[in-house]
Amino acid sequence: MEAFEMERMQSTWENVVQYDMSESGVAPVTLRELVEMGFDLERFLDVPLGYSQSNGTVELRELLREHYPGASVDHLEVTNGTSEANYLVALSLLGPGDVFALQVPNYLQLWGVPRALGAEVRPFHLRRVDGRWRVDWDELESAIGEKTRLVYLSNPNNPTGSVLDRADMERIASRCEKVGAYLLSDEVYRGAEIDRERSDSFWGMGERVIVTSGLSKAYGIPGVRIGWIAGPPDVVEKTWTQHDYLTIGPNKMSDAIARVAVSPDNREKLYARTRALLKANLPVVRDFARDLEGFVALYEPEAGAICLVRYDDEVPSVELAERIRVEQSTLVVPGSQLGLEGHLRIWIGAKEPFLVEGLRRIGAGLKLSAANP
Ligand SMILES: Cc1ncc(COP(=O)(O)O)c(C=O)c1O
Repeated sequence: MEAFEMERMQSTWENVVQYDMSESGVAPVTLRELVEMGFDLERFLDVPLGYSQSNGTVELRELLREHYPGASVDHLEVTNGTSEANYLVALSLLGPGDVFALQVPNYLQLWGVPRALGAEVRPFHLRRVDGRWRVDWDELESAIGEKTRLVYLSNPNNPTGSVLDRADMERIASRCEKVGAYLLSDEVYRGAEIDRERSDSFWGMGERVIVTSGLSKAYGIPGVRIGWIAGPPDVVEKTWTQHDYLTIGPNKMSDAIARVAVSPDNREKLYARTRALLKANLPVVRDFARDLEGFVALYEPEAGAICLVRYDDEVPSVELAERIRVEQSTLVVPGSQLGLEGHLRIWIGAKEPFLVEGLRRIGAGLKLSAANP
């Protein structure tokens, strides 16, 4: 199986560098904050740490059901992070000879997994047109055809931070419906909108729509490793079968924490925390870009704790990121690891002193690189 380059790069360096600016969520919530939101830690101290319900407690799935109109608990499965959710869907639906259509740029987990399962990956791109990220419809229509079993996109998208219009979503969903393909919409960034209304979900836009999400991004709680799948019950039954073999189920304390986080009031509080942090950080990011005018162009996100910078140099993004890591002890994600050469992805979800210094170092690295190509 080929390496998941971005994750391996992060795992190798994120705890070694002084400034990890390769992150992609907001500064995480603490257990104390969750206790203040209603997590009963004192009571939990006496809970025996046996196995939890392997597809998620009914109580948690009942709460999640509210996010997906018309869903029953059988439409839902709780997983170890959104990444396990995506993995289980791919394992359940793909095999040799299948075509898998992948939106690019993206979080490229579902580049390596479908290929390892023997499927053919056909990308369709988001392209920057007149200051906005647009679907390349010709590519989409050739990627999603009769042989396509599964389509993956992230909306809001990592790394562009762009959100699909409702009309574009309907067009994608009806293309999938027409050819009989499953549509997997990774909505882990939904709720992390900065200056716009909540993005729409694909849920309900077709018989074969599957949505994955989790606590890692918009909720700001990656460390508890809770994600979920919402999909047709026959697909969820298949993913549960895979789950039994892989990790059995999520951990008991995480399930209990998730019940607090996804309850309606707390969910809105956590989303508001995310929005406030990102809104406060944007002017700092704009200052950073202004200082680098002539070196880079900044693409601001509509949602998510990441931004993209485009640079005009010929240097490969892996090389540029490596220089910044070595010279500035600061980690950023090379665009090529997200399917977008000539760009760097930078974290904007940190608390301010860290953000300011991290950006200062990236700026210094970019200027040094431009002066010494
Ligand atoms: C689009 C997308 N999906 C899934 C993940 C992984 O999420 P989790 O931490 O919930 O496994 C990420 C992480 O960056 C992501 O950006």
